[in-house]
Amino acid sequence: MTSSPSPLHDQIQRYYTTRVLQKESCCSSSSCCSTRDAHPALPFAHLPAEEQPISFGCGDPLLIAELQPGQVVLDLGSGTGYDCFLAAKQVGESGKVIGVDMTPQMILQATQTAQRLGLSNVEFRLGYLENLPLDSNSVDVIISNCVINLTPDKPQVLSEAYRVLKPGGKLAITDVICLQPLSAELRQDLEAWAACIAGAITKDEFSQILAAVGFRDIQIVLSDPAPLSLNPEAERDFMENAQRVVSALIWARK
Ligand SMILES: C[S@@+](CC[C@H](N)C(=O)[O-])C[C@H]1O[C@@H](n2cnc3c(N)ncnc32)[C@H](O)[C@@H]1O
Repeated sequence: MTSSPSPLHDQIQRYYTTRVLQKESCCSSSSCCSTRDAHPALPFAHLPAEEQPISFGCGDPLLIAELQPGQVVLDLGSGTGYDCFLAAKQVGESGKVIGVDMTPQMILQATQTAQRLGLSNVEFRLGYLENLPLDSNSVDVIISNCVINLTPDKPQVLSEAYRVLKPGGKLAITDVICLQPLSAELRQDLEAWAACIAGAITKDEFSQILAAVGFRDIQIVLSDPAPLSLNPEAERDFMENAQRVVSALIWARK
């Protein structure tokens, strides 16, 4: 892996290393780190609780991914592999799922879980989303769950997503969106970035970046506008500033 693109990447890496080692979700309330009732038959349900992957996501990208057997799927910021294992079940043994994440502890844990599950159609690669370790035009569907908000250079990350998608391929992600631009002060709070708040952009900004990169048929659907927060004190500040971050389903085609 190339050297860290920025101090923010290092901060986020440290944050998620701690979370995964302590088996903590990334934030304290509502839309983020949601429970995943939509998948009652989890393919890892038989593993002991301490070996199960943790979802650090803010939604369910598989609701919009429309995966088919045999497809190649890429998960941007795959974490402990939660969505990858669900996707692997859907694409079957003739398909393949590749998870990319910059945090070594995430890759280690996800790889160990894949081995425990005996899955040969899932692979985890250490790398930055800004410089994806994949060939151009090689992926049918890209999923991602609560990750793009963490990246400081969203046009670069979404350009890379576009590059590796096959023509006609689908981007299907969940992420957090702010209802109005966040304050400059909040944007400089690295802890709030790492907790999936300060890096959120508006629906219009997200849509404009996707269009500028070349995506078409762009759809962004916001969830219930429940606030996300770091802790009760941060939540109070957040509410007082009238700054809201909500979960969204986002999809588009190359
Ligand atoms: C909020 S967690 C979500 C993990 C997973 N998608 C899930 O739903 O459980 C964010 C993940 O994205 C990874 N990440 C954040 N920025 C990244 C970047 N620029 N390149 C690669 N991975 C990144 C982090 O290491 C972390 O594992």
